[in-house]
Amino acid sequence: MNIKNVVIIGSGTMGSGIAAHLCNANVPVTLLDLTTEISEKAREKIHKSRPPLLIDKTKINNIKVGNINDDFSVVNNADWIVEAVVERIDIKHNIYEKIFKNRKEGAIVSSNTSSIPIKVLSEKLTSEEKKDFCITHFFNPVRYMGLLEIVKNENNDLSKIESLKKFCEQELGKGAIICNDTPGFLGNRIGVYAMQVAMTEAFKMKMSIEEADAVFGRPMGIPKTGVFGLYDLIGIDLMADVLKSFIKELSKDDPFQPVAKEMPLVSKLIQEGYTGRKGKGGFYRMNKVNNQKVLEAINLETGKYFATKKIDLGIETVDLNTLINRKDKYGEYAWAVISKIIKYSSSLVPGITDKFNDIDEAMRLGFNWAMGPFEMLKSIGVKNFFERVDGFENNEFLENLAKSKNENFYGERQLYTNIETLGKIKPKAIKVDKNKSAQIYRFQDYNIVEFTTKACALDYDSMDALKNATDKPLIIMNESMQFSAGVNLSYTMNFAEKGDFKSIEKFIKYFQDTCKHLKYSNYPVVSAPSGLVLGGGEEVAIQSNFVVSHTNIVMGLVETLVGLVPAGGGCKEVLWRWSQTPEAKKDVDYAPMKVFNIIGYATTATSTVEAEPLKFLKPEDKKVMNRNSLFEVSKKLIENNKDFKPPKENTYNLSGKPLKEKMIKVLDKLYNEKVILDHGLEVGKELANVLSGGDTSIDKTLTEDDMYKLELDSFMRLIQTKKTQDRIKHTLSTGKPLVN
Ligand code: NAI
Repeated sequence: MNIKNVVIIGSGTMGSGIAAHLCNANVPVTLLDLTTEISEKAREKIHKSRPPLLIDKTKINNIKVGNINDDFSVVNNADWIVEAVVERIDIKHNIYEKIFKNRKEGAIVSSNTSSIPIKVLSEKLTSEEKKDFCITHFFNPVRYMGLLEIVKNENNDLSKIESLKKFCEQELGKGAIICNDTPGFLGNRIGVYAMQVAMTEAFKMKMSIEEADAVFGRPMGIPKTGVFGLYDLIGIDLMADVLKSFIKELSKDDPFQPVAKEMPLVSKLIQEGYTGRKGKGGFYRMNKVNNQKVLEAINLETGKYFATKKIDLGIETVDLNTLINRKDKYGEYAWAVISKIIKYSSSLVPGITDKFNDIDEAMRLGFNWAMGPFEMLKSIGVKNFFERVDGFENNEFLENLAKSKNENFYGERQLYTNIETLGKIKPKAIKVDKNKSAQIYRFQDYNIVEFTTKACALDYDSMDALKNATDKPLIIMNESMQFSAGVNLSYTMNFAEKGDFKSIEKFIKYFQDTCKHLKYSNYPVVSAPSGLVLGGGEEVAIQSNFVVSHTNIVMGLVETLVGLVPAGGGCKEVLWRWSQTPEAKKDVDYAPMKVFNIIGYATTATSTVEAEPLKFLKPEDKKVMNRNSLFEVSKKLIENNKDFKPPKENTYNLSGKPLKEKMIKVLDKLYNEKVILDHGLEVGKELANVLSGGDTSIDKTLTEDDMYKLELDSFMRLIQTKKTQDRIKHTLSTGKPLVN
């Protein structure tokens, strides 16, 4: 089966997300809705979407639009027709009738339904039609969520389902998991149950919503939106509809039923228009108090809003055993929630799938959990779990495990894919070394470094791991969401607050040495980024010999946002790349002026396509749609570079003073226009100093070390200013940089 042409019916949230993603994969796609105005508006929304649904915005017109009356003939040529209209069975049935009358023989027809069983969707189809009909359940936002659940019916042509799966895996980059026809399939069945349990227990234990989110979040390997934040993100009204459908579809004795009931506070919020982030707020809201924006959280008992309180559990890494054994309400809450999730998930095997492994992977791909319920069980330990858990009647999985007490019950990871992934090889690899910020694995004849800190922020330990791992070819990559959000700023601030600038200088110098070491070591170094590749993270990537990048990245040198300049070699490396352009050969100031703009504005790329023209990525760097493939492609690069020789060091000829003056002129103009303020001017001048080569002239050749020194000196001058320190503190406490 060859999918060369796709038609999507329904251009709402999901239809447009799927269309955009097919466009990302260069597959011609047509989006049909009731009227062309609706689908045209949908296309405009795709173009403006944030985070962007398109990898390359210029391709927007590759998505054709139309309406189901005048343009339905496009269905005649489609290899795959995706139905993504409202969740109404009568409407869906009418559409299928029309599709099957018009589709070309053998074309696949699928529904994006999140709750209607395939039995019901296909009840009016002939057995011949059923052969080509299935559910393809994408997650929102389609470009970013890895999970695709495929649900078969009993008549399916299995080879066709397999080739659809392959297409979605290879071309769309999805983790495609085939699952049974049960309510909510895998991801939503467990994910929504987990949310409901986390919420119910929070009410029961009189936790504040900030406390619940602080536990049911990073400490459990769950995104920091937690439960109430996630509710607001999805939409409290939408969640209410999802729950109604679970109540209707699940058997009366399903343990989901009691936690699926709408809570009075939820009804009240919906009635008052507090539907979440898309509305005026939900469990959290942004309020204006004395002209200041204040984030408020609702009190679960009184229903009144109060300014949020930061909850610090003092937890840096995911360690479930420590968490559930805490002798406080957080530990108790964590155990109550985790044990219920494990009990419920295991009770559903083999009903919802005979591979429990698929449940874990669905939670990773569809909800961004760091581990699924069965991995949580593994991490707690079988013995520990059974010592504490109460009743698990009619749970065949747990009954068997309680008997066998097999701590190694888990087996392999990621059974749903044939790709050799990092997740699969980690358990087989030798753990060479580990510190609190990184893990070094040895697999076959090369090393892998995985960062383990929050957002993979870099510190001495991360650097040590990188340095120590260059005794073999090296792949730097993480299973967690981000490659690296940059150097650990709070670590730097700890020194700054003590006035210990010598230690900061030592650390940044060590960072530079490490990056240089990566670039010039005798074995090839491959960085395989995805997610955030910012600041120091980008400096590691850009000074690796090869890059294999996921198409979903946010990449850039954003140091100016916190009042600093890139000092790990970022300035010099981007500068060198720009100096290799034909324009730079004609105009000696072309490259530094370009880089001055790019770094000065902290320009970021939201995809590989945007990263290349900024020269954060090179044309020869590999770009892959499927995050699972990062490891395989990196490994191949190493295998193909057996006779690797480290590159020659770069040299720079920069104009010095006249160039710096040119840059300062640009800054003065921005300052006069109030685009930048005093501190912006100061940071800009330091950047100008680095990129102009400092005290140099065009006939003087600077080495990479000279450039490192310029970066370090500027960084050190800036970090000692109160304004930069205030900016860093603001970013650390709010998670966002100061504007201006
Ligand atoms: P939506 O309400 O955003 O969009 C539905 C679109 O269908 C609208 O543009 C509407 O004009 C159009 N439509 C209605 N009747 C039509 C007809 N007869 N012919 C052509 N177009 C018609 O809905 P959304 O959220 O995109 O959901 C679509 C499907 O995807 C539903 O089955 C839903 O259960 C499922 N789904 C939704 C997710 C979400 O997060 N929103 C996630 C996964 C699945």
